[in-house]
Amino acid sequence: MDKIKIIGGKKLKGKIYISGAKNAALPLICASLLTEDTVTLTNMPMLSDIKAMNALLTQLGTQIDEFNDFVDGHPTKTYSYRTPQATSLTADYDYVRKMRASYYVLGPLLTRYGKCELSLPGGCAIGARPMDIHLSSLEQMGAHIEIKNGYVHASVDGRLKGCKITFRTVSVGATCNLLMAATLAEGTTILENSAMEPEIGDLATLLNDMGAKISGIGTSVLTIEGVEKLHGATHKVIADRIEAGSYAVAAAITRGKIELINAQEWTLSRPLQILKDMGVSIETTPHSIIVDAQDRDLVGKDIMTEPFPGFPTDLQAQFLVLMLTAKGASMVTETIFENRFMHVPELLRMGADINVHGHASAIVRGVEKLSGAQVMATDLRASFALILAGLIAEGTTIVNRVYHLDRGYEKLEEKLKGVGALIERIKESDEE
Ligand code: EPZ
Repeated sequence: MDKIKIIGGKKLKGKIYISGAKNAALPLICASLLTEDTVTLTNMPMLSDIKAMNALLTQLGTQIDEFNDFVDGHPTKTYSYRTPQATSLTADYDYVRKMRASYYVLGPLLTRYGKCELSLPGGCAIGARPMDIHLSSLEQMGAHIEIKNGYVHASVDGRLKGCKITFRTVSVGATCNLLMAATLAEGTTILENSAMEPEIGDLATLLNDMGAKISGIGTSVLTIEGVEKLHGATHKVIADRIEAGSYAVAAAITRGKIELINAQEWTLSRPLQILKDMGVSIETTPHSIIVDAQDRDLVGKDIMTEPFPGFPTDLQAQFLVLMLTAKGASMVTETIFENRFMHVPELLRMGADINVHGHASAIVRGVEKLSGAQVMATDLRASFALILAGLIAEGTTIVNRVYHLDRGYEKLEEKLKGVGALIERIKESDEE
């Protein structure tokens, strides 16, 4: 398995192009299953999760074409998806095991074909992550759901029926799945307590461009008037706010200055406010965010993860590492997932001062320095947090299990090298 080697101590300066958002692209790809026409997605990030979703759709019978493209002068991918008729309505264990977002095929297949079989995802490194809300909400719309041999067997007689659904907890995945299912349902569906993450607005915008009738975009109440058929559309994937937030921390933690090209301020207001409160300068231009921490002393701040517009759980690990370079103590509270401090034991090995209380909170104290070590993380964002620690640690840090990073950070080494980091990938074949 590849590793990433970093020699710490460089102030990062320059520009980084923020790619299209993975967590927008994954449901957008599945939205293409709702029509027999072509759906074209531009500004697609080149990530292993996108490849995995493309492989699943190919297996379902989707024809996929890939093009090299440029967005704002930066090379990206464009993919077009066409599913005249699905040849399979089953998402096998092998796909779901590799990527739980495979469950986004459930809403589209069930509403278009009246049937879907999906391997039930298990728990993962950050928590139990059940999908009971997806399933009970589809049942409210008239679906028959049975769990057998590890699979969800979902079917409906005729079309799904519009109704009012109040999610018991805010769920990004359930909101996306139900939104897609409701577009082709009979009658009107009202989704209350919906997630408001920008990626959901991006999905709703594509669906409306495909002929859906969704109102309330950007709010917690989405109203969907079902239609009989959807058609093709072309859509540019929104910039990845988590990638942007991660590189914002890279600028702050190295006391450098990075311009995040294409990043959108409204998608990051809470994390940017925390950076400002810590003493980092944030400037917004029409096409970028400039994060400047040169010659600054930072002070620690408390953070608590919440659904959007609150502080994102996907930036918790990165900000926790940043707090290690700030004056005083900071309390980091995780409210979304029950097991999202797995990066802490690795950081302790690098000299961090962190006390985790139960599963929900951690006290982080500023330290003089971290020292490089061999580390590994159990999920994507925690892996980036270890990269950040490596950027400021004395000596060499080797981050193992790079496949996590390849799922969600496009051209990671290239982007960090471009702003001055001493970073390289050690290919498995390079090792003795
Ligand atoms: C999405 O996961 C993201 N994944 C996650 O990003 C992100 O951390 C998460 O939203 C929260 O923002 C994608 O977009 C592909 P949820 P999702 O349903 O949809 C509980 C990353 O690093 N819940 O909003 O799976 C659940 O256990 C990843 O890019 C139920 O109890 O998250 C959690 O505690 C990691 N029953 C909470 O709700 C359900 O049926 C929120 O989960 C569904 C969820």
